[in-house]
Amino acid sequence: MSIAFFDSGVGGLSVLHAAMQRLPGEQFIYYADTDNVPYGTKTHAEIRKHVLGAVEFLMSKEIKALVIACNTATSVVVKDLREKYSLPIIGMEPAVKPAVELSSGRKILVCATDRTLSEDKLKHLIKDLDADDKVSLLSLQELVDYGENFDFNSSMLMAYLNDKLGTIDWSTYHSIVLGCTHFIFFENIIRDMIPHNIKIIDGNTGTINRLISLLGSSDSHSAKASALCDYYISGREVSSIYFDHYMRFLTELNIPQ
Ligand code: DGL
Repeated sequence: MSIAFFDSGVGGLSVLHAAMQRLPGEQFIYYADTDNVPYGTKTHAEIRKHVLGAVEFLMSKEIKALVIACNTATSVVVKDLREKYSLPIIGMEPAVKPAVELSSGRKILVCATDRTLSEDKLKHLIKDLDADDKVSLLSLQELVDYGENFDFNSSMLMAYLNDKLGTIDWSTYHSIVLGCTHFIFFENIIRDMIPHNIKIIDGNTGTINRLISLLGSSDSHSAKASALCDYYISGREVSSIYFDHYMRFLTELNIPQ
């Protein structure tokens, strides 16, 4: 039985890559809904329809757990999925909780897609943590397209990020939360653009920890992402070659798990 990972596109590969390192004995399925990416600029109803369709397809495979490796899809539809299906479903949400816990009262910048930022799920999360006055929100929606185009160094990308992050007065901030799985690919670029004392926090490690504990598997921190994976693009099986350059890029990024 496989563990399925779902995302609108290549963002969830950052979560898959980490899972493959920690669960090298498992078999994985990765489903990118590339025909419909980006999700973040779509309506709640459109995203719901796309995700329900993709998950129905995944349920026809032999899977033992489903990771919605997409903050946007999770904020729209994870509740419906959990009501409909009985297997373990792990969603992702911007890691505001760990950021608030670590921040000692300083501010947090939560970056996510347009849709994640406008959904109630994030608003409730911030309210429940009593963190309204500590959290600032910033859409980095265009990073999704840069990521899909494998553009991690053009001058347009740099200008976009500089425009978004370069004008912030970081002196009152503790951390930046990368609340979209596509944003992980830009972590090193972001690191170089913001002051060194600002922490960069994402939800990937927490998601894999949750997956491992739900499966009761043992965790084996391998240096290489060597597990087996079948890949699908919007319901069509494709060769791993489609995503190899992203997986190599993630290995080079060497993000600690
Ligand atoms: N990777 C996704 C996320 O974590 C969605 C990006 C998009 O399709 O806009 O939110």
